[in-house]
Amino acid sequence: MRRTISEAGVTAMLERERNLFIQRNPKSKRHSDYAARNWLRGVPMHWMVDWGTPFPLFVEKAQGVDLTDADGNTYIDFCLGDTGAMFGHSPPPVVETLQREGANGFTTMMPSANAAKVGQLLENRFKLPTWQVTTSASDANRSVLRWCRAITNRRKILVFNHCYHGAVDETYVNLDSGKPAADLALIGEPRDLTELTKVVEFNDIPALEAALAPGDVACVLAEPIMTNVGMVLPDEGFHRALREITRRTGALLVIDETHCMSSGPGGYSGEHGLEPDGLVLGKPIAGGIPAAVYGFSQPVTNRIWDYLKTRSPGHSGIGTTLAGSKIQLALMETVLETYFTREAFAPLIALAKKLEKGLSDTIIKHGAPWHVVRAGARVEFMCCPNRPRNGGEAAKMIHQPIDMAVHHHLLNRGIIMTPFHNMLLICPATTAAHVDRMIEGLDHCLDELMS
Ligand SMILES: Cc1ncc(COP(=O)(O)O)c(C=O)c1O
Repeated sequence: MRRTISEAGVTAMLERERNLFIQRNPKSKRHSDYAARNWLRGVPMHWMVDWGTPFPLFVEKAQGVDLTDADGNTYIDFCLGDTGAMFGHSPPPVVETLQREGANGFTTMMPSANAAKVGQLLENRFKLPTWQVTTSASDANRSVLRWCRAITNRRKILVFNHCYHGAVDETYVNLDSGKPAADLALIGEPRDLTELTKVVEFNDIPALEAALAPGDVACVLAEPIMTNVGMVLPDEGFHRALREITRRTGALLVIDETHCMSSGPGGYSGEHGLEPDGLVLGKPIAGGIPAAVYGFSQPVTNRIWDYLKTRSPGHSGIGTTLAGSKIQLALMETVLETYFTREAFAPLIALAKKLEKGLSDTIIKHGAPWHVVRAGARVEFMCCPNRPRNGGEAAKMIHQPIDMAVHHHLLNRGIIMTPFHNMLLICPATTAAHVDRMIEGLDHCLDELMS
């Protein structure tokens, strides 16, 4: 039977856990005080304060799933750098490559001798023939948008409400009472982004159809599952419709697999037979060292070649100096060969299923009005009874005090989840014992929360 969770109980738990956090982490507090002098908002990258803890935890060491903070507290890390460390922290094959290839040059502005091999590995795994490297997924998405606009000669793009594709200006448009509106939190954006971006809800096929009908959209940029507003799964037939409508209206379909590549060795697209025109893979593709790639189908490649014949010489606005570097290529070769295989993914997915079931059973045992979702090695519990069908519905459910209370509770007991929602990733270093600890952690937390 489903029970309710009292607001007062959540507030009390959060207060208790924040006090415990302060007691447990005096050294992190000191680091935080000192760092405040030279770092904007006290941290090298401002998201690091978005964990919502009284001050950030300062990390001493991370290896596999084990993380140690400045106070010597140890954690099982299910956040894994929000996917950047999807194969664990400092995974041995990546460290070995770094040690070997690190002595042979990091960056030369010339292609390295393994470039052809890495290209073949990308084609073999992700079924697209033509690739480029960038230093981040944000950069890859920005580059892809430029190419799509260039070859279609269309200015607009389409994204799904409450999507996240990195620091890509045009994607920060959401639906506000049904109307497109630029995200109010966006810093320093001078343009009216709604002139460049159409936005519809995920799974809303009629809205998609209507938005693409005028034939003025260069591309749809989509995660195959929305993963940044909790997890929102596609309805049966949604991807088929998305592909059919984009083809019919001449919009290119770009699938951003930066998170969803946790679905399997060919990403979600490979597992589910999607046929994207463009694909983006970021974060863990070089084992957590900055790198991302984007790929295009053969017809798109042909159009790019035709377009290039017409282009004026000069800066293209695509590409950065350190992209495609020797060290990125060396690491990508290792990561693609070692981890993007069916054999490497099988145990991750088996453990993720165990975690999914354990969390689900615990939620049912306590009658909590929550549910669990999984995509390959990625599991998420959402603090709402029913699966949201789109970003608008999902956005109402997350960033609630209850998420914060649960995160603090688990953190104080040595378990780290993704800060912005309740995402848990399984990596090769995760064991059944780690998964059991997580399930027990939630059980303990719900004991308190439901009492
Ligand atoms: C789906 C997706 N695409 C792109 C990005 C941007 O990645 P990065 O911050 O590494 O540029 C993210 C980051 O969370 C993401 O979730």
